[in-house]
Amino acid sequence: MSGPIEMDGFRLWHGYLDPAQQTHMVDDLRAVVAVAPLYAPVTPGGKPMSVRMTSAGRLGWITDRQGYRYAPTHPQGQPWPPIPGSVLAIWRDLCGTERAPDCCLVNFYGEGAKMGLHQDKDEGDFSFPVLSISLGDSALFRMGGTERGGPTRSVWLHSGDVMVMGGPARLAWHGVDRVRHGSSTLLPKGGRINLTLRVVAV
Ligand code: SIN
Ligand code: MN
Repeated sequence: MSGPIEMDGFRLWHGYLDPAQQTHMVDDLRAVVAVAPLYAPVTPGGKPMSVRMTSAGRLGWITDRQGYRYAPTHPQGQPWPPIPGSVLAIWRDLCGTERAPDCCLVNFYGEGAKMGLHQDKDEGDFSFPVLSISLGDSALFRMGGTERGGPTRSVWLHSGDVMVMGGPARLAWHGVDRVRHGSSTLLPKGGRINLTLRVVAV
């Protein structure tokens, strides 16, 4: 493992997870989606998102016509499954033991999926960082500052990379411009999984 690379509050560990650890984490996530299936979210404006989404933890992040928010249940009604231990261990290693995350958002990027620039700002508590884990196909991740429309720079996130967005980057704009479909063999049919862990105040 190398790093981290530091960029205005973004800390990036390339190769934090070795291939065997990545495979085990995908197995853990298969158990999560067996309980809480990936679904196709829409924005509050009714626009379909290109990622498919689910969550683990006390709360899940959801979006629909009613808005962006944290909810205690999956849109189908069941509680979210617990965050896998393999995922929590990374939080403890990089973000400490003072507070465990409440939400592990699971985003799945199939062919052509991307995510527009946004801030993570529905948590009501910004004192803890957001931790992001990348699995599968490589993604071009764009990061800016806290001002909308400010300068950005881009970095490729590969399978096994872990990013922490804290301090000045906690409310920074970020997004995924594109994913190189089929660039990783971790998932048999290709695609990218991104996990984001957040502490939520509600
Ligand atoms: C997100 O900001 O929710 C996802 C980031 C990523 O996919 O790397
Ligand atoms: Mn985000």
